[in-house]
Amino acid sequence: RLSTMSITEMEQRIKEIKAQLGDRLYLPAHHYQKDEVVQFADVTGDSLQLAKISAQNKEAEFIVFCGVHFMAETADMLSGPDQTVILPDLKAGCSMADMADIHQTERAWIELNKIFGDTILPLTYVNSTAEIKAFCGKHGGATVTSSNAKEMVSWAFQQKERLLFLPDQHLGRNTAFDLGIPLQDMAVWDPIQNKLIYEGSEIEQVKVILWKGHCSVHEKFTVEQIQEFRMNHSDYQIIVHPECTHEVVRASDMNGSTHYIIETIRNAAPGTKWAVGTEMNLVNRLAQQFTDKKIVSLNPSLCPCLTMNRIDLPHLLWSLENIVEGNVENVISVDDETKKYAIMALNRMM
Ligand code: 13P
Ligand code: SF4
Repeated sequence: RLSTMSITEMEQRIKEIKAQLGDRLYLPAHHYQKDEVVQFADVTGDSLQLAKISAQNKEAEFIVFCGVHFMAETADMLSGPDQTVILPDLKAGCSMADMADIHQTERAWIELNKIFGDTILPLTYVNSTAEIKAFCGKHGGATVTSSNAKEMVSWAFQQKERLLFLPDQHLGRNTAFDLGIPLQDMAVWDPIQNKLIYEGSEIEQVKVILWKGHCSVHEKFTVEQIQEFRMNHSDYQIIVHPECTHEVVRASDMNGSTHYIIETIRNAAPGTKWAVGTEMNLVNRLAQQFTDKKIVSLNPSLCPCLTMNRIDLPHLLWSLENIVEGNVENVISVDDETKKYAIMALNRMM
């Protein structure tokens, strides 16, 4: 039936179902979601905001999470026992989260402990599987988001001499650098070769071990793009997400989380011009919302997060129809053992 419906019919039906379910339904959406989905969101936010919101809402029976798999897992772990979290398309994963699996992590931990002894605290970006969060929870570590990475890395150094930062090497490197740790005191763990990559001579100097993972959207921004952009548009300020490489972050004017980017542009003076290095649905929405400023993407060939974009009008409607028909599908449910330890990591952050 869905395949024969027009966009207007689908939108109308979603409105009807939302009205019918009322407070039984809650629909959070990440800022990177498509406009066709965001228009129905009860709340939009970045990873940290959505994690906090999931912990607060205890009323809704169904949380239809418009984001990617790791976010829905977090929502499941922080929501109440009688709440059901649904991801409208199970293929909405995250390539970065997939770059650290638990077997690789346990193997790495053994090797790193042989080199550094019991001096390492694991921290994981929330963009990771529930199992990786549980690993961190079990070993005294915590989760971080791009909005609180500096506080969390500072906290980690109060607990232990070194830290293992999973799975995004760029957020880890950019954050540690901002806190004054020189690049030569950072090493990279390559999970494929099961090997530490360190170019310095004094291994004891290593303070930060970066997991060799990255975001396939943010890694596409380059220093060459910035140089070319500056040559043609000297009146623009360049603002990027810290999932971009260290070189890109250094070459830009400002960097910060999704929340930081939105608030910086919101509070900027009318007439200011911005080239933004982050996911394109958000950049397009900022351009539509803040018409008193000029906002463009730093990447002329655009940069969608393909997995975020899997959540669309038909998948959203399909999930809602399933609820109405009492035939709920795509439930995200983290097992109790994993949840127990992952919550420790999340709670240390929150
Ligand atoms: P934040 O929402 O924490 O800025 O993270 C960006 C991101 O890549 C989400 O997948
Ligand atoms: Fe993952 Fe990057 Fe997409 Fe965020 S933008 S969901 S980190 S691939």
